[in-house]
Amino acid sequence: MRLQDKVAIVTGAATGIGQAIAVRFAREGAAVVVDYIGQPDVASKTQQQIADFGGKSIALEADISKPDQVQNLIDGAVKAFGKLDIVVNNAGVEKKLAFVDYPLEELRKILDINLIGPFLVSQAAARQMIRQGNGGRLVNISSVHEDLPMPTNAAYCVSKGGLRMLTRTIAVELAKDKITVNNIGPGAVFTPIDADVEAMPEMEKALMGEIPLARWGKPEEIAGLAVYLASDEAAYITGSTYFIDGGMLRQSGSY
Ligand code: BGC
Repeated sequence: MRLQDKVAIVTGAATGIGQAIAVRFAREGAAVVVDYIGQPDVASKTQQQIADFGGKSIALEADISKPDQVQNLIDGAVKAFGKLDIVVNNAGVEKKLAFVDYPLEELRKILDINLIGPFLVSQAAARQMIRQGNGGRLVNISSVHEDLPMPTNAAYCVSKGGLRMLTRTIAVELAKDKITVNNIGPGAVFTPIDADVEAMPEMEKALMGEIPLARWGKPEEIAGLAVYLASDEAAYITGSTYFIDGGMLRQSGSY
């Protein structure tokens, strides 16, 4: 087991990629804090999956854009399991709308969850890890859109572009404390965030046409890399993004 005796927080772990990571981490021996917002019944499904094989987890509700709730999340992990080794900043939201019509409220919401959230959670986690003195792992779930523009998705692209620089900057700053910081950049993964695309065959076909491997990714395929980046084996890896996108970023449009 690659995360034996580690304690991990996974934000947005009630569904999708976060759920797959939480379950996989528990399988690898970690005690997992399942962070969620507003849906205790869904979070309990993640917990149930973990309990089914005898894994350890607790569920904690936290709005990651609120510093006091973030601190409660970190403190709750330490109270339950004695320490904090790994944080996966996974929680994210998306709203596709024409740039010229984009409402400020939506922009603020997306930046709050996708960028301010990881900033605050990483900050509180790093303080805890520095106090512990044994280093740590911060793994952020970004997107191909930290790099790739996507028309009608400006707020999301901006948030992920910010996450890219958050990772690069704090990876350098936290290196002296042996805390590594990396991004995973998924492409099109079959989860609730893409319910709009999944429901429209034409849109789905167009999206698949942009992916050399011509299929959706699976949340479990993201979880595999998250385990590696969170493990002791990845101690020398920091400050970069690793894309899992079926080749999406390399498609040339001519093949
Ligand atoms: C977005 C999806 C999009 C995918 C590939 C993801 O980050 O959440 O909406 O389909 O990137 O473009």
